[in-house]
Amino acid sequence: MKTDNQKTVIPLKKPLKGTIEVPADKSISHRAAMFGALTAGSISIGNFSSGADCKSTLSVLQQLGVEVEFLSDRNIVINNKSGFKETEKVLYAGNSGTTIRLMSGILAGTDFSSVITGDESLKKRPMARVINPLKLMGAIITAECDDTRAPIAIKGTKLSGIVHNSQIASAQVKSCILLAGLNAEGKTVIREPFRSRDHTERLLDYLGADIEVEDNKVKIRQSKLIPGPISIPGDISSAAFFIVAASIIPDSEIIIKNVGLNPTRTGIIDVMLEMGADITVLDQRSECGEEVGDIKVKYAGLKGITIGKEMVPRLIDELPVIAIAATQADGTTIVKEAEELRHKESDRIKTICLELKKLGADIEEAVDGFVISGKTQLRGNCVLETYHDHRIAMSAYVAALASLKPVRINEFQWVNISFPEFADVFESLQNQ
Ligand code: S3P
Repeated sequence: MKTDNQKTVIPLKKPLKGTIEVPADKSISHRAAMFGALTAGSISIGNFSSGADCKSTLSVLQQLGVEVEFLSDRNIVINNKSGFKETEKVLYAGNSGTTIRLMSGILAGTDFSSVITGDESLKKRPMARVINPLKLMGAIITAECDDTRAPIAIKGTKLSGIVHNSQIASAQVKSCILLAGLNAEGKTVIREPFRSRDHTERLLDYLGADIEVEDNKVKIRQSKLIPGPISIPGDISSAAFFIVAASIIPDSEIIIKNVGLNPTRTGIIDVMLEMGADITVLDQRSECGEEVGDIKVKYAGLKGITIGKEMVPRLIDELPVIAIAATQADGTTIVKEAEELRHKESDRIKTICLELKKLGADIEEAVDGFVISGKTQLRGNCVLETYHDHRIAMSAYVAALASLKPVRINEFQWVNISFPEFADVFESLQNQ
């Protein structure tokens, strides 16, 4: 059955060529808007993400009385000089885990009550990972299903610092606790088993917070943030779809301009290089405490590798598209110790395996990952599902480009969560 939002993707018969840009980093955009609202002045943000997730953060802030001015599509000013205001309306985080988890850390230390929720996918995702440590800080919180699922009701109160040893490497958990710690009495310390993305630490430091990082441990004390202009690089997680596509479509050669290269996010480049990809970073520079550069990718023959442990947090969002690369690599690719994939917008271990099998890939599901044997000619001529998950939708598109026959992708509009221009940017590389 054809749905309104079904996309038909025709396999590529010619290489991808040209120079593109991808939307601003989603993780940094969320943080820039939220931390901007925590400063005492107004703050300008250049190149804010065009994705729906970051719009969810802006609309939650607006519901709380923050002024958001659009100077242009991607340049905004955040002004919360008069402070957050209580609202009777339920705050709506849409599909965005970063919005609900980080905002919970902020809301816990206010002097008013709020309720925050999200869409069908977000309401299924685990929230105990932020609710439990926040309760230890003194937060007054209740949530659905024994305090594990959204909606989350928060009665703002005075918080105290804690020392938290997180069982998982999660930037959302770490950031939630750090944001609560920013407004708590005493010192807050969070330790992770492996280092997750550190945009929160870098941006809080840039805005003057009393924060210290030592290996996998971060310490924060109550601090006032000082406004400063923020400019956001392109999202390496969005660039990943082009890195993989250009690596597997013969004779391709592309440049992706202005991409964030924070080392906690560049696992995709490291593993693709290990698989044999031809990737070069050009013009590396630093902006607002984040590394930035241009990425050149040329087609190359790939080979299978094993991915696990500390590499996983450095490419957690890229694993669906790495699975597509693995189908086009000689030998076996093993992804292990990646159970966290089951807690994303969809259970990505399950959904990647289901959809790749439809295309004819040799993929086996494991509890904590998957095993792919390649190289396989993907068949196409099937209908793929997207499961409310933007990264599954975009990975399906890349797989379709490398297939033998056309592929139909249902509910393709989920790409709008992080990359509304996704298909147009791909099409531009076919016409250069
Ligand atoms: C994010 C952290 C990661 C990532 C998500 C964005 C962030 O989630 O998967 O897309 O902006 O902090 P976890 O913290 O749950 O690993």
